[in-house]
Amino acid sequence: AVSDLIAAHVLDVPDFPKPGVGFKDLTPLFANGPAFAQVIDAIATEYGGAFDVVAGIEARGFVLAAAVAYASGAGLVPIRKAGKLPRATVSAAYALEYGEAVLEVHADAFEPGSRVLLLDDVLATGGTAAAAISLVEQAGGEVVGFSVLMELAFLDGRARLPERDVHALLTV
Ligand code: PRP
Ligand code: MG
Repeated sequence: AVSDLIAAHVLDVPDFPKPGVGFKDLTPLFANGPAFAQVIDAIATEYGGAFDVVAGIEARGFVLAAAVAYASGAGLVPIRKAGKLPRATVSAAYALEYGEAVLEVHADAFEPGSRVLLLDDVLATGGTAAAAISLVEQAGGEVVGFSVLMELAFLDGRARLPERDVHALLTV
């Protein structure tokens, strides 16, 4: 199963980037061609093309979003960390498992009412996802799903995303 594939290619790094945080290193999964292809196909298939555009959250979400967009024939909108996008943006601040940050998206990134599949690698506290969802909606898109490779259930990120279609290929 795809969940086993992810479990087999994730490395747990304790105390990174700071003491007490367990980092989920998915670079071994990205580095394995057949495994990477299988997870991308699983995400694209899960939503059966019922979206108009893919939005990826900088930085690790970009890896997935670009591949799913290509596999689906959809376009890609980048949700970026503050100060990176060159034109008018909408922004949302959020607290991360470690630190605080601001995400932005171009204000005109979405056709009004377009169906957006939002992608990231890991759902932890849900702060990143909640901010990204708010951004898509501020910019006029409709979030039809939020999909991650891994969900850290003990951090209860889903509680921050009520009424949302949240999909995780692996829950730990
Ligand atoms: C990590 C991860 C998710 C987010 C999840 O990103 O890639 O985006 O944290 O945490 P949360 O659910 O508690 O908000 P990070 O901000 O470390 O940056 P990166 O993707 O740019 O490496
Ligand atoms: Mg991230």
